[in-house]
Amino acid sequence: MAISKVGIVGGGLMGHGIAQISAQAGWDVVLREVDDEKLAKGIGMIEKQLGRAVEKGKMEQADADAVRGRINGTTDYGELADCDLVVEAMTEDLDQKLAMWAEVDAIVKPEAVFATNTSSLPVIDQAASTSRPDKFLGLHFFNPAQVMPLLEVVQTVTTSEEALALGNEFGGQLGKTVVAAKDKAGFIVNRLLVPYMLDAIRAYEEGFGSIDEIDVAMKGGAAHPMGPLTLADFVGLDTLNSIAQVMFAEYAERRFAAPPTLRKMVAAGWYGKKSGKGFYDYSGEKPVPTDLGL
Ligand SMILES: NC(=O)c1ccc[n+]([C@@H]2O[C@H](COP(=O)([O-])OP(=O)(O)OC[C@H]3O[C@@H](n4cnc5c(N)ncnc54)[C@H](O)[C@@H]3O)[C@@H](O)[C@H]2O)c1
Repeated sequence: MAISKVGIVGGGLMGHGIAQISAQAGWDVVLREVDDEKLAKGIGMIEKQLGRAVEKGKMEQADADAVRGRINGTTDYGELADCDLVVEAMTEDLDQKLAMWAEVDAIVKPEAVFATNTSSLPVIDQAASTSRPDKFLGLHFFNPAQVMPLLEVVQTVTTSEEALALGNEFGGQLGKTVVAAKDKAGFIVNRLLVPYMLDAIRAYEEGFGSIDEIDVAMKGGAAHPMGPLTLADFVGLDTLNSIAQVMFAEYAERRFAAPPTLRKMVAAGWYGKKSGKGFYDYSGEKPVPTDLGL
């Protein structure tokens, strides 16, 4: 089946980016959020990114306008009805995702393919909850979706070869490097990256170094483009905490357990860059390490 219209559920950090690149690839896009405020925030992020691309001479104004014109924001699930592919990029919470699919599955045309951008939940649990487990796969993008080249494409036990082919074709047309990943919690990248970020938080708790010393050390000593605590702030500490909980529940290994500092920061509403404060305070010109009292 050829794709002409793509639905994105969730317009946060990931969803707005996936909506933008889908529109840039030429498809009509419907972006669904929970309320007008969240929707305006998501659309606002897309407009800002397009504005920046024009400013930097990477895109013509007319092209940016055309991309924006292909994105239709809504709070109504009904507008997803004629999408050929629906990708969910909503909060990392299985119950919330299942409640969403129950609504979307009943509305969207039966031949459409569904995909989850989950970072840590096994795909089968969402696929099996719908009436079309054969047309369900994992499409795991990376943050920011506009920039990061990788797409993990996940075939769960029920995914048909046709749905898998559509996912691969979608990734290819977005210009992504497509890697096939097994339906194992965390797939390839987060199986390796999540324990690393959690361990950086534990190293900080254990006094191996200050926040910026740990980040500077891993940038300079391992040639990473950003340190692990900055990376955690970029992922979103609420999302990282949810991912850790899912992976710990799945594997029961300490390396996936959320360190107390992470849980406390999430309880305080410090979600990282997106909320203005995490391991760093982003309110000034430059990020400043947060005093966590350790
Ligand atoms: N942050 C990352 O680095 C990253 C990377 C890859 C994948 N992911 C995954 O992508 C998903 C989204 O993560 P995020 O970082 O964008 O989170 P986020 O908190 O930035 O955004 C989630 C958005 O989903 C919206 N939402 C919740 N329920 C909804 C519903 N029923 N309909 C429409 N919108 C709804 C929320 O209002 C929020 O704006 C998660 O599954 C996460 O694991 C995150």
